[in-house]
Amino acid sequence: MTPVWKIENPTPARLRVTPGVRFDVVVIGAGLTGLVTALLLAENGVEVAVLEGRRIGDGTTGASNAKVSLLQGIRAQRIRHRHSAAMLRTYLDANLEGQRWLLEYCGGHAVAYQAGDAYTYARSERELPLARREFGALREAGMPVEFTERIDAPFPILGGVRLAAQAQLNPMSLLAALAADVESHAVPIHESSLVYGVSTAATGDYLIDTEHGPVHAGTVILATGTPILDRGGFFTRLVPLRSYLTAYRLPQPLSSDMYITAGAPTRSVRTVPDPEGDVLLVGGNSHVVGREDHTDDQIADLHEWTERWYPSATPLTSWSAQDYLPIGELPYAGPLLPGHDGILLATGYAKWGFTNAVAAAQVLRGHITGKPPDWAHAFATWRPDELRSFPAAARTNAGVALQLCAGWWHLTRTGTDPVRPQEGTGRVERRFARPAATCTVDGTTTTVSAICPHLGGILRWNPAEKSWDCPLHGSRFAADGTRLEGPATHHLSPLAPPSAGPNPR
Ligand SMILES: Cc1cc2nc3c(=O)[nH]c(=O)nc-3n(C[C@H](O)[C@H](O)[C@H](O)COP(=O)(O)OP(=O)(O)OC[C@H]3O[C@@H](n4cnc5c(N)ncnc54)[C@H](O)[C@@H]3O)c2cc1C
Ligand code: FES
Repeated sequence: MTPVWKIENPTPARLRVTPGVRFDVVVIGAGLTGLVTALLLAENGVEVAVLEGRRIGDGTTGASNAKVSLLQGIRAQRIRHRHSAAMLRTYLDANLEGQRWLLEYCGGHAVAYQAGDAYTYARSERELPLARREFGALREAGMPVEFTERIDAPFPILGGVRLAAQAQLNPMSLLAALAADVESHAVPIHESSLVYGVSTAATGDYLIDTEHGPVHAGTVILATGTPILDRGGFFTRLVPLRSYLTAYRLPQPLSSDMYITAGAPTRSVRTVPDPEGDVLLVGGNSHVVGREDHTDDQIADLHEWTERWYPSATPLTSWSAQDYLPIGELPYAGPLLPGHDGILLATGYAKWGFTNAVAAAQVLRGHITGKPPDWAHAFATWRPDELRSFPAAARTNAGVALQLCAGWWHLTRTGTDPVRPQEGTGRVERRFARPAATCTVDGTTTTVSAICPHLGGILRWNPAEKSWDCPLHGSRFAADGTRLEGPATHHLSPLAPPSAGPNPR
């Protein structure tokens, strides 16, 4: 499942971190948030380094749809439903600044982007009120949107909101430019340097426990998608959502307008210019990570839709990725713990990170330089009115508790199966006292612990990605147990594979 951006776009590998080094600020995570934050800090004369557990772009940014838009599906009405008109306006101001900075950066660093109009559209009578409410919320906030029934697209549209002059880009090209720029400011980026945890050293510094040994820092910034440290409990305030993307070659060029449905299941459409013929991207079908068994059906469903409305499109690749929905609807950028600026974080962009991550990076810079942007309070990590989100948090965490019980309960009813799983499949069973996850991928059968090292969720097989996914807070692991993403910081322990039975076919 390779994102279209990564088929031919390798970034040069960076060295892993040397243990024992110290930096004033260490940014953990080399996605959009981490790289922009590191760049802004370096430009302000701060000594900074970046630690990345995998490779640059291996997180959500490198698998994104990368629309850089202020029209964000139905986010405006969701924020307005929970917050005042002034707070929505503040959120939009932050996103406008994120968009302005990013497009100016692209313009100055040879990163191509395409301007186009963005639409949130209704495909049925049922979705029309949602589209109209989005229009109302954005109009109230002073955005130059219009509601139109005339939208030129090959799929059915009853009407929708239009915001002119938005943009889309190639996220890997952007990350490559940012990484080169960050390094040109003498900021080291260390890849393959997974962080296990952060503690306080006797000196008052932070001790970052990496897979290669300790690193010292005056301030730590978690730009890891969902925060990797549990203190602060952000994993209870975020819903991890996995979504799917499919890419197709088109025989004829299409406009760079961007479309997204007002209702679910989402259909998100954009194009990518390419010398060999434009590429069409169709995305959607999101669900909470680890709570959908038939993940390949989600891809098949997108293919079916595309075949119907773009019959001449030829499939190129498909993939999935995840982002985090904040229970209070507003993103977070600020202290992990109230009143302590030593560990900062940024997350909760609800699949609109290209403007939000840049704005969040500016908020983080403000925490360190003492000059926060005027709109920083829209990103507060500890806001009193978050109490109003308590019912949503309670619902989210009741769902988590249910998944935890269901995972363990199901195990008590599963016997030990000596037969190796079929190619591309995986199963969880109780092996003596331990829940074991066994799968067969590319002819190799592997068994690892089925217990998520974060907080003990029982993992589930994801057939589309051939990964073990946690239904509690969204940690994911490769077939061999390597940690991929989420709040867990450790790999899964290996166990002995089934000893008896025929080899998988
Ligand atoms: C399918 C999909 C489509 C999207 N489309 C759009 C769109 O069209 N427009 C838009 O604005 N937004 C979109 N988004 C959202 C956007 O892509 C994200 O919000 C944004 O990329 C998040 O950037 P980030 O830097 O915070 O996280 P990431 O890009 O995930 O970066 C986090 C980095 O931290 C590293 N890391 C994590 N844990 C550790 C650790 N323990 N040690 C060291 N390193 C670690 C990871 O390896 C990763 O590289 C989409 C999201 C999805 C899922
Ligand atoms: S991600 Fe929290 S228990 Fe698995």
